[in-house]
Formats: sequence, structure tokens, C-alpha cells
Amino acid sequence: MTSISHHPGVGLRLPHLAEMVVTRPTAGWLEVHPENFLANPHAAELLTELSAHYPISLHTVGISVGSATGIDCLHLKRIRDFADRINPILVSGHLAWSAYKNEYINDLLPLPYTEEALRIVSAHVNQVQDGLGRPYLIENPASYLGFQSSTMRETDFLSELVQRTACQLLCDVSNVVVSAHNMDFDPYQYIDDFPAGAVREVHLGGYTPEADEATPSAELWIDTHAAPIAEPSWDLYVYALRRFGPRPTLIEWDNQLPSLPALMNEAAYANKIALEVGHAFAR
Ligand SMILES: [Fe+2]
Repeated sequence: MTSISHHPGVGLRLPHLAEMVVTRPTAGWLEVHPENFLANPHAAELLTELSAHYPISLHTVGISVGSATGIDCLHLKRIRDFADRINPILVSGHLAWSAYKNEYINDLLPLPYTEEALRIVSAHVNQVQDGLGRPYLIENPASYLGFQSSTMRETDFLSELVQRTACQLLCDVSNVVVSAHNMDFDPYQYIDDFPAGAVREVHLGGYTPEADEATPSAELWIDTHAAPIAEPSWDLYVYALRRFGPRPTLIEWDNQLPSLPALMNEAAYANKIALEVGHAFAR
């Protein structure tokens, strides 16, 4: 399956894999983290079977385009080989870093938005696109802190990255909501400033409010992917679709997984919203 559906997709996690193969519920497409399949031949086999029935997108978590020490070429080659087997409709990763030399950190760490960081990330995105032989989508991060050294806004950094690499973008609407709350900016202005022409995918995920130890009177919103999509994300999703036009949308749920039918209900709700926005466009 090589063409993407505008019916929303769902993130497919390993606990749902066998049920997905057996029940094959209606879904526009599926997105997986390829790193979870590289050392799991049985899971890779089931995913290959599913790829005959659903378009598959690969959302990488280990490529680390923000690492100053360079891209792990061996890992990139493994992802390329996996992509050649699955024939994904999209391949994406994060504007973040998660590796230092050969050390991997199970987190997506932030970057300063400077010319120096832009040069490094641009070189790595070019290298990744060449290595994969495919376009690579870069996702805006969920932020909990900023750097005083930053000289540009995140949306300016992403616009310039698109200019320099011809990469495409994944707009995670819930990340915008989380970052806007934590960093105190207007999420709607962020969507206005986002380079809409480069958006090829939209994410929606659940977040969790937690006490902020540094500022006890405040609340930090954490991008946990462990909850239903919250109202502020649905509201911003409507606004984003009006600005970007219809875009393939994915429900991300990674922790405290719901049942597969409950996950599909979230996708169905996203579809209802997308259809309403689409009808409003058509009028
Ligand atoms: Fe995301």
C-alpha cells in the first residue's frame, strides 16, 4: 500500500500488533516506531503482513538530527533497509537530539535555535534524506525549557530548515499546545507562523499536567501520550486544518494504552472534525 488516506491513522504499538493483524479494524493508515521492530523479527513479519492492507508510516526515534557528534550511519542504514521492506508512505523524526557519540538517551532533548544549530541540523537532515533515499519529515518538539542563546523562534528555525534541505514537516498540534502552555506563547500565533506549505502530516497526542517543582504555583504539561486528546488540542486542530488544509492526521498513544477500539474511536473523532472543516471549506 503506497498512497496515504486522509482518514486519520493511529500509532500502532507492539501490544496491539497481533490484535490488529487478526481484527483488521478500519484505519486510514498506521504509524510505527521502526526502532521497535529492528531486533524483533516476529513483530517485523506481522508488520510486513499489515503493510499489504494499510499504508504504513515510519516515525523514527533514534536518528537524532540534532546531535553535534553526527548521525549514526549504521542505524540510518538499518532504518533504510527496514523502509525498503515496508515501503512506507512517510518517514519522520524530531527536531531534537537523543544521542551523543554512541550513547543513546531515551528522551528527545531540546536544541538552541541558533545559526550554528541550524547549520548542523540542516547538514544532518540532508544526510538522512540521502541515506533513506526518501523525503524526511521533521516534527516540532514539546518544550519544557528554552535557551537564552536562541536567536530565532522555532517556526523561523523550521522555515529556514525547509529552505535549506527541502525537508517536509510534521506538525504535532498537541506539542504546540504543551509548549505554548509551558513556554507561555500563543499557540494560534504559532500555527499562523508555521510553514504551512511544507506540512505533510499532523499529530495529536494526549498530555498530562504535573506539578512544576521549579515553580510550585505553576503546572507543567508533559507530552506523555498517555491520555485522550484534550479539548485545547482538538480546538487547535480545527484551526490548524483551516490554515494547512486537509492533512493526514495521526493519533499518538504510547503509554497506558487504551483498548484498540478505544484508540480507533479517537481517530473516528478526528475524522468527524476533519470532515466538518472540509465541508466548511467547500461551502
Ligand atoms: Fe508527535
